[in-house]
Amino acid sequence: MLLTIPDLFSTEQVQQIRQKLDSAEWVDGRVTAGHQSTVAKDNMQIPEGHPVAKEIGELILQTLGQDPLFVSAALPAKVFPPLFNRYSGGQSFGTHIDNAIRHLKGTTHRVRSDLSATLFLSNPEDYDGGELVIEDTYGIHSVKLPAGHMVLYPSSSLHNVRPVTRGARMSSFFWIQSMIRDDGARTLLFDLDNVAQRIAAEQIYSPNAIRLTGIYHNLLRRWAEV
Ligand code: NI
Repeated sequence: MLLTIPDLFSTEQVQQIRQKLDSAEWVDGRVTAGHQSTVAKDNMQIPEGHPVAKEIGELILQTLGQDPLFVSAALPAKVFPPLFNRYSGGQSFGTHIDNAIRHLKGTTHRVRSDLSATLFLSNPEDYDGGELVIEDTYGIHSVKLPAGHMVLYPSSSLHNVRPVTRGARMSSFFWIQSMIRDDGARTLLFDLDNVAQRIAAEQIYSPNAIRLTGIYHNLLRRWAEV
């Protein structure tokens, strides 16, 4: 499932985030790339563990934890600390699939990437190109969202970032290990949750909504790894 999480951050919040990121030290993005990706990847990143990355990363995780759409769609078990990248002057990232296991630098912690997330931090009118192109079973999707919006997609998908031919594209990207490893099962739970919530919203007391919610939790109990 490919899903947009809109309005995670307001224009003012994005501006504040951008100011902090602009003041940080940026390095060649190949530092976090796997062997094959080194060839495909051409961008700039803030180094892992940089104080600014930590501060903004924590703000992103806190915001996500309070976002009902994200929680319902991702059913997160662990989230890799957000990283930050910037593309300009024709930079791009060729087609690749993200590494399955991410090691948290300097620790023994590992995160399995079930879902990949990109939080857009530049407005689409400020750059040309830079679309995130994702291939899934339903075809090819070109994603370019307003600043403050995020896209969530299965980490098993082939994807690339088109060359940025004018201006600069800044974003945060990270991976989520879900309590529900299988994308199909997770999508089913997300649909079920949506329907149960809609029925509950239509009626103050709805025995059917209670039963549906019960089925949701019983499936979650059956499938979740926590
Ligand atoms: Ni990627």
